[in-house]
Amino acid sequence: MRILVTGGAGFIGSTLLNTLVPRHPEHQFLNVDVLTYAANPANLAVIEGRENYEFEQVDITDEAGVRSVFDKWRPNCVIHLAAESHVDRSIHGPRAFMLTNILGTFNLLEAARATWTEGEGLFHHVSTDEVYGSLADGEFFSEDSPYDPSSPYSASKASSDHLVRSHGRTYNMPIRISNCSNNYGPMQFPEKLIPLMIGNLLKRRPLPVYGRGLNVRDWLHVSDHCEAIWAIVQHGTNGESYNVGGNCPMRNIDVVYTLCALVAEATGTDEDELRSLVCFVEDRPGHDLRYAVDASKIAQELGVVPSRDFSDGLRSTVQWYLQNQEWVQAVTDGSYRDWIEQNYSSRATATISKDTSKNGPTP
Ligand code: NAD
Ligand code: DAU
Repeated sequence: MRILVTGGAGFIGSTLLNTLVPRHPEHQFLNVDVLTYAANPANLAVIEGRENYEFEQVDITDEAGVRSVFDKWRPNCVIHLAAESHVDRSIHGPRAFMLTNILGTFNLLEAARATWTEGEGLFHHVSTDEVYGSLADGEFFSEDSPYDPSSPYSASKASSDHLVRSHGRTYNMPIRISNCSNNYGPMQFPEKLIPLMIGNLLKRRPLPVYGRGLNVRDWLHVSDHCEAIWAIVQHGTNGESYNVGGNCPMRNIDVVYTLCALVAEATGTDEDELRSLVCFVEDRPGHDLRYAVDASKIAQELGVVPSRDFSDGLRSTVQWYLQNQEWVQAVTDGSYRDWIEQNYSSRATATISKDTSKNGPTP
C-alpha cells in the first residue's frame, strides 16, 4: 500500500508512524503535516531516513497543495489524523478548528475522489468519542449513539465525520471511521491533562483541576489506539465506524491523585505534599460530564482489545516523562520549534503558557 498519513508529526500520528514504518517495509508511508505548534519532528527521529518513509509539509486547508500531493504521490490509502485537537484552544479560537478539521477533511476527500476510481482506495478517518456529547452515569457510547457535540472542537470533528460518511455513500468511496476515547502516553503535548499534570508535579506547580474534577474520561494508551487504527485499516468493513476505548472511565480528580502517587513513588517525594498542589479552578465552558466507550463492536468483529492496563500504562508514562526531561524542556521553553523554523516554514509557534496554575494553558 501507499499510505498517506496526515498529522503524522503530532502525538498519535507519530506513534502510529513509529510503529508501522519499521514493522511494514512492504508499505510506503507519506507523512503530510503542516507542523503547527502541536507537531514535534523530534518525535519521528526513529524513522527519519527510512526508505519507506517520506514527509511533505502541506496545509490540508490548501486545496491545491493537497491535490498536488495526491497527484504526485498517488496514495491508495489515507489515514487522516491531522486536526486541531485541543478543546480549550477551540473555545478561545474556534476558526482554525473549522478550517483544518472541516475544510481540511473535505479537501482530502475531494483529492481522494479525484485520484481513485469509484470503489477503490481506502479513506480511514480518525475521530473522537466527543462527537457523541455527554453521558449520564452508567451509560456508554455505542456506534449508534446520536451525535451531540458540545465544543467547537467536537462540533468540527462531528462535521468531518459527516463529510467522510457522505463521501462514502454518495461517491461509493471506501471509507472507515474510528471514534476513540482519551489517549495518553509518551510524547503528548503538555497542554493535555496527563502530561500537563506530570510536568507541574515535577516542578511542584499547582495542578489546575477544572470544576470539582468530577468529569469522567475513558483512558486508552496511545499504542493501543494505533493498533486499533491499523486493525481497522487492514480488516475493517467499508462504510462502518468503530468505537475505540480503554474500558477505563475515571474521574479527573482520581486521575490526578493517581499521578500524585506515581510521581511520589518515582521521585521519593511525599505524596500528601504533591496532593496539596491540587487547585480547583473555573470550569471549562460546555464541559461534558462523562465519556465512556462501549468498544464491543471492534472487540467482536476485529478482535481488538486494549493490551495495557491503565495503572501500568500510566506508571510507564510517568517514567517516560521523567527520563525525557530534555524533550519536556524543549517543548515547554519553545526550543522544539527551532529545527522547524530553520528547516520549514512555520504556521504556528505557540507553546504552552507559563502560567498553568489557574485556567490551564492559555492558547
Ligand atoms: P495533535 O494535536 O497532537 O497533532 C495534530 C497534528 O496535526 C499535528 O502534527 C499538526 O501539525 C497537524 N495539523 C494540524 N493542522 C493541520 C493542517 N491544517 N494541515 C496539516 N497538518 C495539520 O493531535 P493528536 O492528539 O495526535 O490527535 C490526532 C487525531 O486523533 C485528531 O484528529 C484527533 O481529533 C483524534 N483523536 C485524538 C484523541 C486524543 O486523546 N488525543 C482521541 C481521539 C481522537
Ligand atoms: O475524548 C477524546 C478527546 O480527548 C480527543 O478528541 C481530544 O483531541 C483530546 O484533547 C481529549 O479531549 P479532552 O478535553 O477530554 O482532553 P484534555 O486532556 O484537555 O482534558 C481531559 C479532562 O481533564 C477534561 O475533562 C478537562 C480536564 N482538565 C484538562 C486540563 C488541560 C482539567 O481539569 N485541567 C486541565 O488543566
